[in-house]
Amino acid sequence: MQMQLLKERIQKDGLVEDGDILKVDSFLNHQIDISLLEEIGKEFNRQFEGKEVTKILTIEASGIAIACITARYFKVPVVFAKKTKTLNIAGEVYKASVESFTHKNTNTIIVSKKFLKPEDKVLIIDDFLANGKAIIGLSKLVEEAGATLVGAGVVIEKGFQPGGTRIREMGIDLHSLAIVESMDPANGVRFRED
Ligand code: G4P
Repeated sequence: MQMQLLKERIQKDGLVEDGDILKVDSFLNHQIDISLLEEIGKEFNRQFEGKEVTKILTIEASGIAIACITARYFKVPVVFAKKTKTLNIAGEVYKASVESFTHKNTNTIIVSKKFLKPEDKVLIIDDFLANGKAIIGLSKLVEEAGATLVGAGVVIEKGFQPGGTRIREMGIDLHSLAIVESMDPANGVRFRED
């Protein structure tokens, strides 16, 4: 289920840039509207109601604020995967490789083995879902830890990019609070019908 308040805010303050980029940096990922984030956190909590969650997992940087406010409603800790360019990391970490189409680079993402355990029930939270690489990378960390993946919540899914389909086909319970069906600088954003 999409979130009306969020869709209205994207219509009002989102900027569509060339290259299929939706700028939401006035309220979501640079300047942050905490009241909106609270509503987003509540909505994720409602959408995953009845599911046991012991940890929220996200990826730096923009996912962290959203995950933290969401975690207040689930009353669980947040773990964020760190991005690193170093491929050979020694020590007690789980790692996965994540390529970014937007930034045209590849990062290794890592989480300390101390913070993901086989008994954990993990909810992944992120700001954008485009090609799905971040969420797939995070789900690999969960798998490596032997933990259970409860599902994934994203604030904005770019429905015209393949990530959402890929993740649903993997059997991951994906909830997107706004799904952009199409967008262009002249006409703005059109959302998918619920
Ligand atoms: P994917 O994870 O779904 O495969 O997406 P992709 O590689 O295309 O995106 C890489 C980064 O760009 C991600 O941030 C993602 O949140 C962001 N992104 C993708 N599409 C948009 C968009 O339309 N607008 C904005 N504002 N961001 C977009 P990241 O690399 O994790 O960086 P960070 O900003 O969280 O540090």
